[in-house]
Parts: sequence; C-alpha cells; structure tokens
Amino acid sequence: MIFPENFVWGAATASYQIEGAVKEDGRGQSIWDTFSHSPGNVANGDTGDVACDHYHRYADDVELMRELRLAAYRFSVAWPRIQADGSGPANPRGLAFYDRLVDRLLAAEIAPYVTLYHWDLPQALQDRGGWTDRDTAHRFAEYAAAVHDRLGDRVRHWTTLNEPWVSAFLGYGNGVHAPGRRDPGEAIRAAHHLLLGHGLAAARLRELGAQHLMLVVNSAPVLTPAQVNDPSATPGEADAAATARVHALLTGQFLDPVIHGRYPEQVLEAARRNGGTGHIQEGDLETIAAPIDQIGINYYNPCVVEASPGRPADAAWPGSEDVAFRGADAPTTAMGWPIVPDGLSRLLVRLSGDYPGVPFMVTENGAAFDDVMENGRVHDADRVSYLQGHLREAHRAIEAGVDLRGYLVWSLLDNFEWAEGYSRRFGIVHVDYATQARVPKDSALWFRDVIVRNGL
Ligand code: FCB
Repeated sequence: MIFPENFVWGAATASYQIEGAVKEDGRGQSIWDTFSHSPGNVANGDTGDVACDHYHRYADDVELMRELRLAAYRFSVAWPRIQADGSGPANPRGLAFYDRLVDRLLAAEIAPYVTLYHWDLPQALQDRGGWTDRDTAHRFAEYAAAVHDRLGDRVRHWTTLNEPWVSAFLGYGNGVHAPGRRDPGEAIRAAHHLLLGHGLAAARLRELGAQHLMLVVNSAPVLTPAQVNDPSATPGEADAAATARVHALLTGQFLDPVIHGRYPEQVLEAARRNGGTGHIQEGDLETIAAPIDQIGINYYNPCVVEASPGRPADAAWPGSEDVAFRGADAPTTAMGWPIVPDGLSRLLVRLSGDYPGVPFMVTENGAAFDDVMENGRVHDADRVSYLQGHLREAHRAIEAGVDLRGYLVWSLLDNFEWAEGYSRRFGIVHVDYATQARVPKDSALWFRDVIVRNGL
C-alpha cells in the first residue's frame, strides 16, 4: 500500500500539553493554568507546569523527529507567551522560543505546521467572557498577525483553531475542559465567536501573505449502533434524523459556515432553544467563509447515537434532545474510545462529498494504551495495530477519490492529556516524567519505516 508522492507524514503536539515553563520569559496565565490548578478538574491534580519540559528540550525533541524521519511537525503557539493578557504588543521573548523551534525544524528539513490556538486562552480574556465575548475573536486575529509577523518568512502552513467544537462544548457546555463553564447558551455563542475569530484571522493572515491556511476540526462519522459493524445497515426514520442532527452539531456547525457560508438548520434550531441567534451578526458568515486551503481532520472514533424520545440534551451537545449517545460494539483504547478504523474512510468519503474541491489532511489520529516499559523498551503492539488499521483506511479513502494530503499521528510524545492529566499516554515516544527521558516506542520505529517506505 503505497501513498501518493508528496504525501505528508508527521506528528502533532500542543503547547500546554508539552511545553511546561509556564512562568518563563513573560508568559501570562492561560485558562488551562487556572483550570488545572483548581482541585477536582484534572485527574490526580496534574497540571502542565512542567509537562514534557519541551520549552527547554525542544532541540533534542527536533533531533528525535529527524531520526524518526518526520516530514512535518504540527505544534501550537501558546497565546499567553505572545500576549500575556491577550492583547497589546507582542512579547519578543515568547516569540523567540517559536523562532528557535522553527529554525531547528527547518534545519532538520521538517515542515512546521503552526496551530495558533490549541485551547490555552489568556486568562485575562476569559475574565472578560472568553469566547462568549465577541471581542475575543478580534483579539485572536491581532494575535495571529503578531505571530505571522515573526514567523511568516519561514512558516508556510498555518492553522487557526484546533477543534473549535471541543473548545466551545467541553469548555463552556459540560465544563470538562477549561474554563469549566456549564451553560448551553454560552457554548453556542463561544462556537460562533471561535468561527468568527477563525475568519478574521484567516483574512489577516492572507493579507500578510500566508499561502496555506487550514482549520482543524474533530470529526467522526455519526452512526447508529447497527451501522458501526455494518456500513450497509439502514436506520429507520427517527434514528436517521438523530444521526443527521448530531452530524450537524459536530461537523456541520463548523465546516458548513467555513466552506459554504451558512449554518445547518439544526444548529440554528439549537441556538433558538438556548438563548437565540442574536449573537450572529450581519456579515459574520461572509467573514467566516474566508477561503481556506485545506481541512484538517482529527479522527479517533465514531460517534454512536440513536433516537431516544423524551431524553434531555447532553450538556456537551445542546440541541441533542431526544438522542441517546451509545457505546459501540468494538474493542476500546485506554480512553474507553471504540476502535473503528473504517470510521476514518467513511468519514473522509462523506466529507469530501460535502465539501468538494477542498483537500484534507488527517491532522490527528492515535491512541492511548497502558504502555509498559520493559528493559528500556515499550512494545506497544496495540498502538501499532491501531495506527496500521487507520492508515489502511486513509489509503482506502484516497483510492475512493478523497484528496488526502497527509497524516499526522497524535502524538509525538506522551503528554498532558487535558482532564486525564498524565494518566493517559498517546505518544509514539515514551516520556519518563521523573527524568524527562524520551524513548521511542515500537510504534515510533514502525512509523519511521512507514514513512521511509511511503506506505504499509
Ligand atoms: C484531541 C486534542 C489533542 C489530544 C487528543 C487525544 O481532541 O486535539 O490535544 O488531547 O484529542
């Protein structure tokens, strides 16, 4: 199974999950600092204070990436390193870190894929409402321009947001993520302002000369329990409506406005039931629909639902009244997430039909397992098999005509897995948090061979 020439192979991380050094070089506080330091929010009381200490070890980490033959590295910039309070002049010491990182990557012939927002909002902006406040969208565009001013001469690939669904609905809906708010109306407003921030930033970056812009969404095929193992199963009317509604809430809510300049009707209906649509102002959808060059898809598992009359909406899913979220009849990872590799091809085929003409990239895919270190090695056969299964499906999608440009594994390193803290290991490289020693797992060595072969 050989992939197309120029298919981009790489790995992804995010600032708060790996950097540590939270008080260095003028970095301000982020909502994740506040949230992780408030008892009860994160497993074992873990925080990102030290994480993988990547802020100090980035040079060695880039060397590791070179040894693994990565062609691309997707990382995020911590907004509070650039603007401690989320506005005003850029902090040169914060920018200097990413400047050094980019230069190292380029020297190792690894393409930097910069994500501007992977969830570490400056706390000062949250104090004014965070993403529920329209002004945050404008602040985001300003910050994006400041980062581009410093890195735009060397970085070609720019991503505005990582997974706006998660920012909005886990951050402001069920409160499992920072800032830990629990209000369906706030979550819906946050989603819109994230999209507005994306559109404003995309326009600014374009003006400044950026040629390759991407939005990264968490997406999944929305299936009934029967469809998980039988793609040809045909759901009844009520179940079909439930899957269609949840698809609109998860994926259509973001990609329809960005690609087609309109919200799905189910999303507008969810807004009407939760405070109204007054936050969507005239002209917003034109702004949000600024052209982008690629859609990034983070896929881990399908979303399984069925109709369940009378059930109230799930806190993370305003608008999901009368729907039950179900498990799948499939093996699971250490996160409890069902392993359904062909969910990836089913998703990509559907999305490339819904959004024709826009290339795709798998910007995250991977799995947490309970790894064991034995004689200095981690034989993570379960992760190899997860990755292999999903790569086969990526290949299948390409054969079915999907314009898929690359695949980035989540994650390069074991790291701070948000509400799960350090208890879940997603890395292809093992991190010993006591010594910060890095050891490539079997999956990393396997992935290196896939890259060298450009296939399976
Ligand atoms: C995604 C996030 C990423 C990581 C993986 C497991 O939702 O973008 O930071 O936590 O899940």
